[in-house]
Amino acid sequence: MCGIVGYIGKEQAAPILLDGLSRLEYRGYDSAGIAVCTAGGFLQVAKSKGRLQVLSDKIGGGEDVRGTIGIGHTRWATHGEPNDVNSHPHLSQDEKIAVIHNGIIENYVEIKEFLIAEGVRFVSETDTEVVAQLLAFYYNECGDFFEAVGRVLRRIEGAYALGMMCADHPDMIITARKDAPLLLGFGDGANYIASDATALLPYTRDVVYMEDGEIAVLTRESITIYNAMQQVIEKEHSHIDWEVSAAEKGGYAHFMFKEIMEQPEALRKAISPRLRGGRIVFDDVSLTARQLRHIERIYIVACGSSYHVGMVGKYNLERLMRKSVEVCLASEFRYSDPLVDDKTLVIVISQSGETLDTMAALREAKSLGARVLSIVNVVGSSIARESDDVLYTYAGPEIAVATTKAYSTQLAVLNMLGLYFADMLGSVSKEEYEAIVKGLEALPTQVEETLASCEDIQKFAASYFNHDSVFFIGRNLDYTLGLEGSLKLKEISYIHSEAYASGELKHGTISLIEQGTLVIALGTYGALFDKAMSNVVEVKSRGADVLALTTQSHRAEMEKTVENVLVVPDTHPVLQPSLGVVPLQLFAYYVALHRGCDIDKPRNLAKSVTVE
Ligand code: M6R
Repeated sequence: MCGIVGYIGKEQAAPILLDGLSRLEYRGYDSAGIAVCTAGGFLQVAKSKGRLQVLSDKIGGGEDVRGTIGIGHTRWATHGEPNDVNSHPHLSQDEKIAVIHNGIIENYVEIKEFLIAEGVRFVSETDTEVVAQLLAFYYNECGDFFEAVGRVLRRIEGAYALGMMCADHPDMIITARKDAPLLLGFGDGANYIASDATALLPYTRDVVYMEDGEIAVLTRESITIYNAMQQVIEKEHSHIDWEVSAAEKGGYAHFMFKEIMEQPEALRKAISPRLRGGRIVFDDVSLTARQLRHIERIYIVACGSSYHVGMVGKYNLERLMRKSVEVCLASEFRYSDPLVDDKTLVIVISQSGETLDTMAALREAKSLGARVLSIVNVVGSSIARESDDVLYTYAGPEIAVATTKAYSTQLAVLNMLGLYFADMLGSVSKEEYEAIVKGLEALPTQVEETLASCEDIQKFAASYFNHDSVFFIGRNLDYTLGLEGSLKLKEISYIHSEAYASGELKHGTISLIEQGTLVIALGTYGALFDKAMSNVVEVKSRGADVLALTTQSHRAEMEKTVENVLVVPDTHPVLQPSLGVVPLQLFAYYVALHRGCDIDKPRNLAKSVTVE
């Protein structure tokens, strides 16, 4: 979704803004722009539809726009088509105010009508231009930039992270947030704003996350933060410890491939600190055994791949804890009148920690009295900040839109949590506890082994990339694995793909299987292997071209029926999807590569979905 960067300091602003925006490209966008305030108090704006490079070329890499204070934006069109005019920054009619905005101003029509009646001429179709024009209107009324911002914020409704400049104040950026991510970066003689810490990695690690209703005034020397009542407040600073290189490709052709390859290391970081002397230790969970016993209902709430992690979690947590677990899509949860009260634990899963649907579900759950525990990758993100307990996944920055290492670390942490809770409740035997812990210890190395044997996957991708429809089938945990394999494939290769619980085939889907249909049969769940095989035979006898995935111990059995077989090492059943997902990620990657797709930035998708 949209990205925001702002800089005020002693260097030329434009190259810093372009660099910051380039670090936000992964979020997805369709146009980009910057506004720089010149020493003479003149707002110079450059913007273009398309890739950031187009904008950069237009302004000589930033050289043609001179000034040491500026704001920049990558736009994901919501109101008005992607074009030069609709891209941000937006200027007021008198060209005194420049605004960048993430989010949606819900009452923009009413405000626009009001301003038009006051003689204001609009040039774009966006909701954001309304903010720029309204700010200029109030500024002309009161002559005070800060006061005018306050008036605007009291008038607008909706979600926003705003960066605002005024030509009369060439030494100030004002920023404000409500329901859209925004952070402040503290530098030496320079200060920053950004929608995402990744943008600031080369410049500062010292940040403050803004909360809803807060406003900040940045000068070169200081940042003053105000609450919604416009009282000055002090806020805790956070340190970003991500390496700059973690957000760069480092010789890989694609971030997705790099992130797939980073999984062993990411898993080590997620698992090792929480395993001590053969026991799972969660210093970051404050929920006590007494409180856990009091919990009557558990929900797991998330979107996309994080939801698929939740699907695996449902099977595993129920198995280990002997408690019923509901998995809910965040976008459905809050509109489904969920059965949530103070005896409910809601486990929220999100890589970005900013997904709007998930955030809204979290707030709904809290308002109904639930306790919220989140599994989040981005430290300090909104979901992390609003949860009662947070378990970070420590996967480092994930840039590719298609999640891989975040999925794997979320899954590892959720499985560990299930085992930790099961131990608290006394619902897991000592033997099973120890077997899973052993499996967790071995997992990063087993993922490494799986990654090292990927030649077959390339070969299969080369022979299957021309299919236009694929079915993933599997039972129990293999069904949940299929959901993720299918999403990976469709989102980056644009091949129609669906995941079915194998037992459901005969209830409808099997009518779609004909000569040559590609079926990816998942047979890694040992307990139901024979049943999975019956379904393989079933689809084969209708002409399906089957590619199978199984474990070492079932390889020989699978090869009796299926010619093309991918194999992963054996582990404890609850951890098997953590290995099974790796070949599916690689398969999707290589298929997309053969099809010439824009792997890291698939069409119509954004990394962090901050609109409903
Ligand atoms: O940041 P989140 O984990 O909350 O994101 C949820 C989904 O948007 C995300 O998993 C999406 O489905 C990915 N593109 C899948 O690869």
